[in-house]
Amino acid sequence: MMSHSKISKIIHWTFTLLYSYGIFKQVDDLSELEDPSLLNLEITFAIIFLIIVLIRYFFMKDAPTLLGATKEVRPGHLFLAKAMHRLIYSVLIMLPTTGLLIAALFNLGIGGIDFAVALHEFSALLSYVLIAMHIGAAFYSKLKGEGVWNGMVPVWKETKKYDSELLTKIKNIENRAYDKLEQILKI
Ligand code: HEM
Ligand code: HEM
Repeated sequence: MMSHSKISKIIHWTFTLLYSYGIFKQVDDLSELEDPSLLNLEITFAIIFLIIVLIRYFFMKDAPTLLGATKEVRPGHLFLAKAMHRLIYSVLIMLPTTGLLIAALFNLGIGGIDFAVALHEFSALLSYVLIAMHIGAAFYSKLKGEGVWNGMVPVWKETKKYDSELLTKIKNIENRAYDKLEQILKI
């Protein structure tokens, strides 16, 4: 059975910690930036975060998607999984970039900061939605017993396929969605 490399797993899980730290330490409102040490800390964190995201992207971009799958993956499924990972990377770039934009506008004292804050909040919200979908998809795949979970997650290993009427119905809907997608994309 195929699995992501040890280094890919280390990157995935240490980055999960870094992202969680970034979300929990968030600035509560604009006036907090008047404290120069907090402003410097935010800027440093955002730059380090951005560099790590870029390194991770270039390291992972050639790694196969859904690597752990034990059965052949439908092209529609592969397309969606790749698109989802790219969206996650985009939002992980947007978060620190819009944060740095806030810092720049704050220091320069020119207008537009409200718009930068709105972009930053939108990036944060989008990251919650995408990562919730990502984790949901990982659990769903684990229920289906596809092997993908085992390829990245070192705990609570998948040992069997679950079977229920509801799961079969959801799998049928999923397959019909891939039929449509593959037809549209001609893949
Ligand atoms: C409990 C939390 C999480 C679970 C169970 C989980 C599960 C997985 C699994 C099973 C894969 C492998 C998919 C494949 O082989 O194509 C994967 C890959 C990936 N995950 Fe997660 N994940 C979690 C948290 C996160 C978080 C917080 C992020 C982003 C901050 C993230 C971003 C990614 C990305 C971008 C990939 C694609 C491979 C890569 O480029 O590293 N994951 N995840
Ligand atoms: C990777 C780096 C960063 C992450 C992960 C991050 C994350 C967040 C999150 C999750 C929020 C809450 C958004 C919401 O209310 O939905 C937030 C708010 C905020 N962030 Fe960041 N941030 C980062 C960098 C920065 C930087 C560099 C600055 C500016 C120096 C900054 C300034 C702010 C401000 C002013 C708010 C509050 C906006 C308001 O008034 O509601 N952030 N950040």
